[in-house]
Amino acid sequence: MRTFVYTSRPSRVVFGAGTVRRVRDEAERLGCSRVLLLSSPALPEASARVRRTLGDMLVAEFDGAAMHTPVEVTEQALDVLTQASADGIVAIGGGSTTGLSKALALRTDLPQVVLPTTYAGSEVTPVLGETRDGRKVTQSSPSILPETVVYDVDFTLTLPLPMTVTSGVNALAHAVEALYSSDANPVTDQQALDAISRIARALPRLTADPADPEARADLLHAAWLAGTCLATVGMGLHHKLCHTLGGSFDLPHAETHTVVLPHAMAYNAPAVPGVMRRIADALGVPDAPSGVYDLVASLGGPTSLRDLGLPEWSLAHAAELAVSTPYPNPRKLTAEDMAELLTDAWHGRRPEGPPSTEAGLARLTEQVVASFARAPEPRVRTLLSDLVRHLHTFVATNDVTDAEWQYAIDFLTRTGQLCSPTRQEFVLLSDTLGVSSAVDLLTNSRTPTTTPSAVLGPFYVEGPPEAAHGSDISGGLPGIPLWADVRITGTDGEPVKDAVVDVWQSNKEGFYDVQLPDLDGPVLRARLRTHADGRIRFWSILPSEYPIPDDGPVGHMLGAVERHPYRAPHLHFMIDAPGHRRLVTQLFVSGGAYLDSDTVFGVKDELVVDFAPQTGPTPDGRQVEGQWRRLDYTFRIAPLAD
Ligand code: BEZ
Ligand code: FE
Repeated sequence: MRTFVYTSRPSRVVFGAGTVRRVRDEAERLGCSRVLLLSSPALPEASARVRRTLGDMLVAEFDGAAMHTPVEVTEQALDVLTQASADGIVAIGGGSTTGLSKALALRTDLPQVVLPTTYAGSEVTPVLGETRDGRKVTQSSPSILPETVVYDVDFTLTLPLPMTVTSGVNALAHAVEALYSSDANPVTDQQALDAISRIARALPRLTADPADPEARADLLHAAWLAGTCLATVGMGLHHKLCHTLGGSFDLPHAETHTVVLPHAMAYNAPAVPGVMRRIADALGVPDAPSGVYDLVASLGGPTSLRDLGLPEWSLAHAAELAVSTPYPNPRKLTAEDMAELLTDAWHGRRPEGPPSTEAGLARLTEQVVASFARAPEPRVRTLLSDLVRHLHTFVATNDVTDAEWQYAIDFLTRTGQLCSPTRQEFVLLSDTLGVSSAVDLLTNSRTPTTTPSAVLGPFYVEGPPEAAHGSDISGGLPGIPLWADVRITGTDGEPVKDAVVDVWQSNKEGFYDVQLPDLDGPVLRARLRTHADGRIRFWSILPSEYPIPDDGPVGHMLGAVERHPYRAPHLHFMIDAPGHRRLVTQLFVSGGAYLDSDTVFGVKDELVVDFAPQTGPTPDGRQVEGQWRRLDYTFRIAPLAD
């Protein structure tokens, strides 16, 4: 059971795009009729929109907010407020404007409506840090907390990318430290994890498109959640370091957060491994501290204190300051440890993080992928990289053992050893795993006006014997005679002449000629050419269902999973015509066996057709005793341009 204390802060949040329109109503809701607007000269358009929305409620404006909320500036603003007899404050801008609003509220107890334009989150905290005579004084009071926050995503669309990154990481820091805070509780935990996933999702999207409204909404939503965490629970080492570096060495606030966070996390990680695991999961990385570092680096954010202008000689002093007053942190702090941490941050070193199998695997995968980087052919690079990623994921998610991988290699070895000009075990493997049909589906079946394709199979032989129209391609083999009358048309229904049509099929027992060395072949395979009417006609025998060769590793696999090896009865066609795309397909005998469990997943409804039973006279006058079958079919083939 978890013991915790949770206090919620009474702040009202209006979130969305175009929410600036609600500002006047929100001010009225707080009983205001004479508002002082704290605007931002850096945001002229946004400030103008707030001005317009407030209309005659606006009685005074002040646009001089400054970093670290100097009291002199607050006093100037207070004069403006008093002279105008304002009864409420509306503030638009980043942390400085929010800070000034809070400072005025502390002095006047007037209600505030704040419209934040960055991700610092201070708008939902009851904390104010002011500077007086160059010294920063921080205090907390309920009157400091803005009554209403209006988050308008539209106002963040133009926040420059570098500020977006550092301000976003500032928010990330609130969420991270909330999770290992001594006051952590289930509510802030959920808010923090939600904030972390949103930040990890949004920041990379914003580097691609800084005005992506969904990503901006995610980030602003995260800033609110993370700010709420900051308001509710105490922060630790990271915030202490940042305040020290900001206060004593004048380093910029959000940039300092961005550099320090991975190092503070790496330092605390051994004390809170479970928290780091949850943060890593929320970030979608194997290791949280190095994941944050990598995220910042990939976004082009600052990674070293040296680049922020901190002199190296100040590190020892900063380390002393960081441990000079005690504060809650999950791991004990010493000046030596802090000096080491700050030295790493000063150099911009990537935190290593604890060695983990996942991190090792991720590195290995990336090493292998990087080894393809110089492949001159981009497609080769893509296919090999993705194949390696999928294979590594496969072995990792299934915890594949040495013995299992050796078995897989032996299986593939046996598959290869069985291949010969008349036996293609790899094709069988691809077919029985459905890969051939998947490739076929993706590459060939995309035009609704053409006949669907189907797998080639391993029994096609290049250059089959030419056959005359009306001839019998069965070579006299036993079986129910089949008369095929086939038309080839384009998608417009017009006959296609000079089409080369290869047909092939198995015999009555289910064997292709290439499987029967004693047979005098080729037989049951032929090439016919269409005339102007687009037709070919020939005699053959009715194809029957047959097992694919199952005396090799593929058959073994089918047996192991209790699958049968049968193909539904079918006739193969390969059609090549000038100006048209090649069509490789099969026609399946309606009513035949295994139509719904074809072992190579090759049956498509549109290809199941009548091989209609007939008796009596045949189309070409051939004498047939008893039943014969008739296949009438029109193939529609695609023009090359498609
Ligand atoms: C065939 O229809 O010839 C076939 C297709 C895939 C695997 C085995 C045979
Ligand atoms: Fe076949």
